[in-house]
Amino acid sequence: MSEAAHLSANPSPTAQPPLQAGLTGALLLALETSCDESAAALIQGRRLVAAEVFSQVAIHGEYGGVVPEVASRNHLRALRPVLDAVLRAGGVSLSNVDAVAATAGPGLATSLMLGLSLAKGIAVALRKPFLAVNHIEGHLLSPFLHEPAGPSDSVGLVVSGGHTLLVRIHGIGRYSLLGRTLDDAAGEAFDKVGKLLGLPYPGGPNVNRLAASGDPKRFRFPRSMLASGDFNFSFSGLKTAVRYLLPDLESVPVADVCASFQEAAVDVLVHKALRAVREAKVDTLAISGGVSGNTRLRERFTAECAASGVRLLLSPPQLCTDNAAMIAYVAALRLEAGFVTQLNAEIFPSLSVTNGF
Ligand code: KG4
Ligand code: ZN
Repeated sequence: MSEAAHLSANPSPTAQPPLQAGLTGALLLALETSCDESAAALIQGRRLVAAEVFSQVAIHGEYGGVVPEVASRNHLRALRPVLDAVLRAGGVSLSNVDAVAATAGPGLATSLMLGLSLAKGIAVALRKPFLAVNHIEGHLLSPFLHEPAGPSDSVGLVVSGGHTLLVRIHGIGRYSLLGRTLDDAAGEAFDKVGKLLGLPYPGGPNVNRLAASGDPKRFRFPRSMLASGDFNFSFSGLKTAVRYLLPDLESVPVADVCASFQEAAVDVLVHKALRAVREAKVDTLAISGGVSGNTRLRERFTAECAASGVRLLLSPPQLCTDNAAMIAYVAALRLEAGFVTQLNAEIFPSLSVTNGF
């Protein structure tokens, strides 16, 4: 059986009460541990009740990047307090929960196992349905969380530390990939440039902060694949162009490098995403992932979408970076449609957005 078939052939669990019809209005608990954030959220129907994140950024900052074993050890320490905090914030106890979900991929294997195992354990103890969720689908649909009508026919741009994707959203669980990065993800390029410039980890928010006082026209960095005619991206040339400047950095304000780099990265994203919306003949663009919290990206997309009559959906900044609210939302939509996952579900560290559950 192909991986895709295996993943989607999952409607009736063996060790759980099977769902005959969709469960609407259920109180669902979701856990997210795909990388270095330990997160939990509660959603009732499609309404977010509470969300908590314990970020390990300060811990991994000492190493200049995420160390998988350190991430796993800290998930072990953080998951119980995060779970208690979300239940407290939601004013409920575990016994009120009707279904439990967790991210199953993509992400770091040893981090994914912890959230998935805990969620399965809770589902078994409560004898409630369990749902495995695709992390990229979580990002992709997160801008619809506060939209009363839910996910609609649209184009999604996911810009995170691990992914840069343009996706045609036809409906819940029905996605086609329009384009992706052929090398570095957008967030990865921000992080690598931050490192080259000696900024603290993670580079993205620090490049964003310094760029605010820099001149975006000081350097004309390459806009790779702008005229490629497809919807793919490449950010490694842009990062290399910044590296070539290194010998001169003493004499150049770092803020100007940040602003010029950021402008080049955002230019390509705006250009390709708006062309995808035009060609797909849809009226909505939904942008998600950590980089969608970038101030300049938000400004540029807001202006360009307004000028071209495109409805722009951007999440509030706390929903851009990794969180469990987006995982809870996808799980709630799936549960509503009558889907649950078998308790023997595995983790899928390299899962793509078109492999659903
Ligand atoms: O979505 P996310 O939290 O995790 C992944 O699934 O990868 O994205 C994290 C990425 C990091 O590369 C981080 O530097 C970047 O998002 N990021 C930003 C900003 N905030 C986070 N990049 C640019 N500007 C920001 N304000
Ligand atoms: Zn993410």
